[in-house]
Amino acid sequence: MQDRMRPLIAGNWKMNGTGAALEQIAKLKTLLEEAGNIESDVLVCPPATLLHRAAQSAEGSPIRIGGQDCHSNPNGAHTGDVSATMLFDAGASHVILGHSERRTDHGETSQAVNEKVQAALSAGLIPIVCVGETEAQRLDGTANQVVNEQLSTSLPDNFGKTRIIIAYEPVWAIGTGRTPTLDDIAQMHAHIRTLLVSRFGSTGENALLLYGGSVKPSNAEEILGTADVNGALVGGASLLANDFFSIIVAT
Ligand code: PGA
Repeated sequence: MQDRMRPLIAGNWKMNGTGAALEQIAKLKTLLEEAGNIESDVLVCPPATLLHRAAQSAEGSPIRIGGQDCHSNPNGAHTGDVSATMLFDAGASHVILGHSERRTDHGETSQAVNEKVQAALSAGLIPIVCVGETEAQRLDGTANQVVNEQLSTSLPDNFGKTRIIIAYEPVWAIGTGRTPTLDDIAQMHAHIRTLLVSRFGSTGENALLLYGGSVKPSNAEEILGTADVNGALVGGASLLANDFFSIIVAT
């Protein structure tokens, strides 16, 4: 593997934020400017309604803007959906796909995620593909197998030609304040790395593996210092610029 990869700290605002939340982008921009040389890439994924304004607020800063989901078609009769092309047009560079809340709330299968990844790639977006086991799966010892199946189906073959970003998010750690042990995180990231290298070769070696699930200022440094963790996907703690900034500088 190459020397240290430039980490990515991505914020997932989920279904939180109206226009007033754009202040947090402005604040983050100021904090990053004041800090000068930051060692990570920074991404904020606001709700779709804020995406364009967030991209405008972030202009001239290192903050990139991403979507939280996209449809697998570029356009058409799909009421309420947003396509990857539209996200790109609104100023997004990335899109989160297959988040466990999408898999649970909307019954998204790994096959559906695969189609969305292809749509994102065609639209010029970098997909961040989420995988992770439930608590029952962790307890019955099938976590590796579950992640294996999610990854093998969610990732299309042509993913190997582009930058791969995977977020390992144990479902039971999301929004709960609980996190796996550092050893468990390291073990799962090593497992994911092995799977990606065997399927995609050097692109897999250089894939960014983010950890997500209750990352906060108090645990960011140790999590981000864990082997094979190349960044974080942060939910709750990304909503306030000060907290998110503390995580960004913990890399
Ligand atoms: P959390 O969410 O940081 O609030 O646990 C993470 C995520 O769902 O991406």
